[in-house]
Parts: sequence; C-alpha cells; structure tokens
Amino acid sequence: MDLKRWLDGAATAIADWQAGFAPFTAHPSLQVSDEQLAGVFAEFTDRLGAGNYPYFHPDYAGQMLKPPHPVAVAGYLAAMLINPNNHALDGGRATSEMEKEAVAQLAAMFGLPAHLGHLTSSGTIANLEALYVARELSPGLAIACSEEAHYTHARMAGLLGIPAVKVAVDERGRIDPAALDEVLARGEVGTVVATAGTTGLGAIDPVHEILAVARRRGVRVHVDAAYGGFFTLLAGRADRSGLEPEPWRAISACDSVVVDPHKHGLQPYGCGAVLFTDPSVGRFYLHDSPYTYFTSDELHLGEISLECSRAGAAAAALWLTFRLLPPERDGLGEVLAAGRRAALDWSALLAAGDGPLAPGQLTLYQPPELDIVSYFPAAGTLSEVDAASARVLADGMADPERPVFVSTLRVTAEAFARRHPGISADAAGARILRSVLMKPESETQVPLLHERLGRIAAGWRGRGAGPARQIP
Ligand SMILES: Cc1ncc(COP(=O)(O)O)c(C=O)c1O
Repeated sequence: MDLKRWLDGAATAIADWQAGFAPFTAHPSLQVSDEQLAGVFAEFTDRLGAGNYPYFHPDYAGQMLKPPHPVAVAGYLAAMLINPNNHALDGGRATSEMEKEAVAQLAAMFGLPAHLGHLTSSGTIANLEALYVARELSPGLAIACSEEAHYTHARMAGLLGIPAVKVAVDERGRIDPAALDEVLARGEVGTVVATAGTTGLGAIDPVHEILAVARRRGVRVHVDAAYGGFFTLLAGRADRSGLEPEPWRAISACDSVVVDPHKHGLQPYGCGAVLFTDPSVGRFYLHDSPYTYFTSDELHLGEISLECSRAGAAAAALWLTFRLLPPERDGLGEVLAAGRRAALDWSALLAAGDGPLAPGQLTLYQPPELDIVSYFPAAGTLSEVDAASARVLADGMADPERPVFVSTLRVTAEAFARRHPGISADAAGARILRSVLMKPESETQVPLLHERLGRIAAGWRGRGAGPARQIP
C-alpha cells in the first residue's frame, strides 16, 4: 500500500467530515505558517534520524521494536485528527465500539468463552489491572511469578501492597511446576502469573501444568502474554513454525490474560490489552457509576479500566488493522510464522557452529521457543563472554559499511552453567547476545546476519582477545 496516499486519504476524510459542520475561523493564537514549520521541521526530522536505530530494517535484530503497519498508521492518524477519548462513550462513540470489537477478536484468538476486557496504554498497565483484580479477589495474599517474569510484576505488586513470590525456573527459563506446587502449598499465594513468552528468552511457561497445580490449590492464574500472546496463532500449526498447543489452549481456562498489540499486533506504542474470563470482575472497577452499566450494551469503557483517558486512535488503528490482518492463523498468523521460522533457521546455523567466514564464533545459548534467538561469542570464561558480547554489540553498530544491530541480555552465572557447564564461571553473570526476529523480513536475512555477526566476533578476537576456544 502507498502510505502517503492513505495519510492524505485520512486527512481528506476527516476534513470532509469537519466540512459538514458550520464553518469557523481558527484562533490566531494557534496559527503556524508552513514557512514557520519548515524552519523547525528539518531539524526535527534530522534529530529523529540521527537519534534512532533503524528499527524498520531487518539489519536491526535487537530488541522488541519495529514500526507499526502502515494500515495502523493511517487508522491512527485519521482517528487522531478527531482525537476521541475512549474513557466514556461521549468522548469516543465510534472508537469505543471499535475497541469492543477488537477486544472481542483478541478474546476469540485465545478461545475465551466469555470475557470482559479493554485496551490499555501498555502491557505494564494491563498487568497492573490483572494484579489489581487479583488483590481484590484474594486480599492479603501474594502473587507468584517466575524468576524470569517481567520486572514490572514485582514493581506493580509493591504498588498494590501485596507480596510477590519468585518461583524457580527450569533449565530453559520456564516455571518449574514442582517448585510452584511447593510455594503454593504454603497457602500464601492468591494468584500465579504464568508468562507465555518471557521477555528475555521467549520461554513459554507450561500454562496447562501451572493451571492444574493452581486449581488443585484453589489459586487463580493470570497469563502475561504481553510479548508472546499472538503466537497462540501458531499453536498446533502443522508446519515447522507450529507450537506445542497445550500451554496456549490452557489460556482460555485461566482467569485473565494480557497481550500487547504494540508488540506483535503491528500497532504503535500505547496499545496493550487485558482480558478477564469472568466478566463479573467489572464490579471491582466500580467508581461513580451503577454496577448495571457493566452488563448493559452501553458500556463506558472507563467503567472497567483503571486508566481514565485512553486514546480512541489506538483502538481505531487496531480495529482497522484487524480488518485486513485479522488475529487468525492465515492473517496475522503468517507474520508470526515468518519470525518463528527465522528464529529456527538462525538457531540451526548457530547450533551447527558454521558461520561461513567464522566457523564456531557464535554459540546458541538455548533453542528458541518463539522468535527470540540467544547466543554468545566463543570464549572460555564468563567475563570473556561478557566482554565479547559487549564488543560484538558495539562493533556491529559501528560497522562503516553496513551496521548490524543486536541487543544484549544479562544472565546469571547459575543460569549460564545450566546450559553451558564447560565455561568457567569467573563472574556472577555475563551479557549474552539476543535478537528478537519480529519482522517477517528477518526470515530471508538470517544467513546474512549470521555471517556478519560471526565475522564481527572473529574480528574482535583477532584484535587481541586471545585464541578462539572450543565450546564444549
Ligand atoms: C512478558 C512481558 N510482560 C510485560 C511487559 C511490559 O509491557 P510494556 O512494555 O508494554 O509495558 C513486557 C515488555 O516487553 C513483556 O515482554
């Protein structure tokens, strides 16, 4: 699609709509001439260009970052020109309806039999809402989440005045159900947070096993699928991008789930979502409106949200995107599948240890479960791994011919030793390299990325890091 055409289309459509109302003159205090704007716009765009990494490009294989789909941009812009607020129907009639429809599509994606949900400004706020309801339902009880869960769970639990208990993980960074059972047996936990796709490594907690343990102990389950949620579209898929279905199918029997359309849903930032399987939890949001609003067709979304103002434009962008790329297997699922295949391909190259120009320079840290690939430069000690990872990150970005962008992940010595016991633990932990392959274009880029990063790792070694050592 031609983005410029649809940006113009958005502006034209809203101008046409505005022209249906009585004309008025804009206040002089607001006037800015094209010349005035031209005077600062070049500086503005220069700063944007100079101060950003190329998140749009497959050479950027670092953090969870990419631009929104152009459809979302056009949808966001059109709605933003009206600037509806989805707090109350008065402030955002059309976009509140769009929000309910898009949220219903998310609920269907997870197979929820019933739901109460809404968009939020982020995954953090969406999780806060789930933990808030958890606290209201189990006053005085803690939440339990894994050592690998997103850091904001402990922070939000602190904010809510409830304890957060950390549960040990297995050798792949997933909650250990036996360790969870031991924690729950103490009777201090009201809700377990399962992470369907951890931020660091993309590990999928065994939601189905967690659910069984938790239900036996009378404990609720919230699923943080902020990053991983859309991968449910690959559950049980027959081709190699397919995922084990059990953890994903179990989500529909959990109590709440969070997913971030601003991660794998092709949306601009400002778009998280929380969904509860029991719509009656809406009672905990009761403020100055009667409870009956929650079952009426005329639900004001502010009545079931901790936040007050929320961008109607975020709902509009998601709704428009879902019309063209629905959260279904052959819609958005194809986008997710390409990233997953990219991760599988790269991990196969890393596991084979055969960068064409630099054999064995990079080692796979652990097999990817979603689209995050973790790896580290060949070295004999943890402090060497750390230094080499930092160097590859820096040298990759500094490459004058064609920079390549990755990210680092700090892991503990214990976590490292569980995966690679042969490397001497001379430090408490180390940075390793991490690439989130969330752009479907990464699929064709992987051999090139592997070769260039292998060469950068070899080049650093060539500058005095000592001889390459074989990783056992
Ligand atoms: C699993 C998980 N939970 C929560 C969050 C926080 O989401 P946000 O950055 O949208 O606040 C993230 C962010 O990466 C995440 O990966």
